Amino acid sequence: MAVQTRVVSIFFIQLVLLAVSGLNRVSGAGLQTGFYDESCPEAETIALKTIRQAISKDGTIAAALLRLHFHDCFVRGCEASVLLDAAEEGDAEKDASSNLSLRGYDVIDDVKSAIEKSCPGVVSCADILALAARDAVRLLRMVFVFLLYFQTGGSSWKVETGRRDGRISLSKEADENLPSSNFNIAQLKQNFVFKGLTKKDLVVLSGAHTIGVTSCLVINDRLYNFTGRSDTDPALDPTFASELKKKCKPGGGGPVLELDQGSSTISDAHFYKAVRQNRGLLTSDAALLNDPLTLAYVKRQSTSPVK
Ligand code: HEM
Repeated sequence: MAVQTRVVSIFFIQLVLLAVSGLNRVSGAGLQTGFYDESCPEAETIALKTIRQAISKDGTIAAALLRLHFHDCFVRGCEASVLLDAAEEGDAEKDASSNLSLRGYDVIDDVKSAIEKSCPGVVSCADILALAARDAVRLLRMVFVFLLYFQTGGSSWKVETGRRDGRISLSKEADENLPSSNFNIAQLKQNFVFKGLTKKDLVVLSGAHTIGVTSCLVINDRLYNFTGRSDTDPALDPTFASELKKKCKPGGGGPVLELDQGSSTISDAHFYKAVRQNRGLLTSDAALLNDPLTLAYVKRQSTSPVK
């Protein structure tokens, strides 16, 4: 048990470190740790406290906050454009189809309001999104560690801050930039390369799907209409497909589904094991097996964490 916990712990830290470094590459230069040390020294403490409160009410919000940061960063960089409302109805990033299931806006609003009370007009929403993703995942891990009665020191990492908020938010740019869950490996690679990210980043960042949820609607075509002939995606393990069909009705009705079935509230290697066994829920996760390098990386992640 102790060994397993240590492996999970190391995996977790590396997932997050790689994830954060990858996303920061998207956000551009000029960031530094402690950017608000003088202008708003309590900013990070306030953010952490507010997010802890939110997670104590709804543990699933951690995954939502991580996804919000990713969806922000992939469109115009990490500049909070995902939070902006449309000048014309339906026209902002948040109105794009791939953003309609984003959650956690209210938590970001709460963090911003709390920080504004101490330091009006200082801390950017883009930084709050980055801090929220970090804190949410960190708190999730602490819950996990607590549940196992282990004390591993509460490892974390520093988020560089100093991002500026953007003023432009267009739904068509979200459609153009965000990867679709139906993407094949070539499309995924192209999408990530375009953001300056590597195949390795693609595999590690996809590991974010070790937490969080999706819906039957998202996998409906994989189950019931893969090539338009009422067929099932042959890349899906047949037993797993049958299990999913018991939950998900044709047309997309059904319950909320854990992205990492049976393990979606903790960050661990289970997600990669499931992908290797053709039990990845999303086409895009299953597609990681279709390139020699990403396949090798999935294998490595499923057995031992990145060195
Ligand atoms: C590689 C390309 C990716 C694709 C195609 C993709 C697609 C998706 C889809 C379709 C969902 C379910 C949404 C729904 O049910 O409406 C989802 C959920 C999620 N994604 Fe991704 N994703 C990708 C990469 C990432 C990355 C890089 C991160 C973060 C580092 C991330 C974090 C998450 C999280 C945490 C959830 C669960 C959200 C929740 O529970 O509310 N994803 N993703």
